[in-house]
Amino acid sequence: MMSEHTSSDLQIMLVCGSVRRPSHTRALTAQIEQSLSRYAVVTTDWDLRERPLPIADPAHHDDPLLHPDQEVRDFVTAATLSDAFVLASPDYHNSFSGVLKNALDHLAIEQLQYKPVALAGHGGNRSSQAVDQLRIVVRGLHGVAIPAQVCTQVSDYRLLERDAYQVYAEDVLHRIERSAAELVVFAYQLRSARRPATTSRTADIG
Ligand SMILES: Cc1cc2nc3c(=O)[nH]c(=O)nc-3n(C[C@H](O)[C@H](O)[C@H](O)COP(=O)(O)O)c2cc1C
Repeated sequence: MMSEHTSSDLQIMLVCGSVRRPSHTRALTAQIEQSLSRYAVVTTDWDLRERPLPIADPAHHDDPLLHPDQEVRDFVTAATLSDAFVLASPDYHNSFSGVLKNALDHLAIEQLQYKPVALAGHGGNRSSQAVDQLRIVVRGLHGVAIPAQVCTQVSDYRLLERDAYQVYAEDVLHRIERSAAELVVFAYQLRSARRPATTSRTADIG
């Protein structure tokens, strides 16, 4: 509950790149959030199906907090206030999904610079293609993708009666625990290392 948290708690934002229902990636995101809940963190799970974002307009890239769409401003504000991120996506054509890329294109370096990002992907044979591509994109936003990524395949899940998937594979559950623990460690370390002066857009050199 919110009242149990303090201002020193880490703020962690989760963004899932699947709008499908039921979705394996959504179940994976929920499992990661559950693992994070064991720590002193406040999580924001931005569901792109429930809260879709318009197509990113580069006219607002220089100051996304001034975007005319309230939902975009809320998304950018949540990212700005976050100490760390979880980005999860299904494999789409050997990469991560377009809906997640569009969401990330609403952000600028200011929102991710020197913040750790946990990556999770879902696809055939536990493919790492989605997270591999995300790692490059995170670097472009000056974020720090942590080493412990999570990759799943269909057989790692079971379908619950309420028509939602749940992560079931023991090794994946252990990997999720490791990823959550690592994200928290990196978030504390990088929070103290971040300086406001480093958010200059002159650092946007690709
Ligand atoms: C447009 C599209 C492209 C896809 N491309 C790949 C792919 O390259 N590799 C793969 O393993 N699966 C691919 N898939 C299958 C998805 O990864 C699969 O449907 C997965 O379950 C989606 O995750 P979700 O249940 O979280 O939505 C593709 C699916 C779609 C809709």
